[in-house]
Amino acid sequence: MSKLPIVILISGGGTNLQAIIDRAEKDLPVDIKAVISNKADAYGLERAKQAGIPTAVLEHRQFPDRESFDTALMELIDSYQPKLVLLAGFMRILTPDFVHHYHGRMFNIHPSLLPDFQGLHTHHRALEAEVEKHGASIHFVTEELDGGPIILQASVPVLPGDDAKTLAARVLEKEHIIYPLAVRWYAQGRLFLNENDEVVLDGKALTAPIQLEQAPDR
Ligand code: GRF
Repeated sequence: MSKLPIVILISGGGTNLQAIIDRAEKDLPVDIKAVISNKADAYGLERAKQAGIPTAVLEHRQFPDRESFDTALMELIDSYQPKLVLLAGFMRILTPDFVHHYHGRMFNIHPSLLPDFQGLHTHHRALEAEVEKHGASIHFVTEELDGGPIILQASVPVLPGDDAKTLAARVLEKEHIIYPLAVRWYAQGRLFLNENDEVVLDGKALTAPIQLEQAPDR
């Protein structure tokens, strides 16, 4: 099978990036054309270099406003001609033009069971809300921050004595499973966003996000 060209955007440590690199070195049919960071010191850039993947840094601070940064970012991404763009810990709010441009071909990973806990500090907020279950979601990116159609989720229990760090670590393990899995379905042409912005997997429009336990080929 031919490999899907993808570009991955990061801002930080890049453990999700690493999970995708590792799978791509085995059986995930993607060709990571570039890893782009808005921060020069993002450790994920090192991970990409070690895997022989081209990297680029586009620092938002060098741009006068959000629009000009996003326009430059779009041009940079498109120079690699990806079929799918992955936000993997990319900590920037994107403009509507940018989001429209990649409609149906951009995923984000968010560390909560969306629609719960959109935005930042999700683990801390989950603990404060005393939820029993927490987790992570993969979704198509739309204009609404962390609000696009959800593809796949994995949940973890919140355990007595958890703090934000222990909970984050438990969620992160699941993130590393669900991101490559959703990318696989897309690369295999089994997953897309239809004209009504519904997620379609294996010919069926989802009425609810897929849960990892019930997911095909996990
Ligand atoms: C992850 O928790 C991801 O869900 C969130 O930011 C974190 C990035 O982690 N958006 P990493 O850089 O992939 O290690």
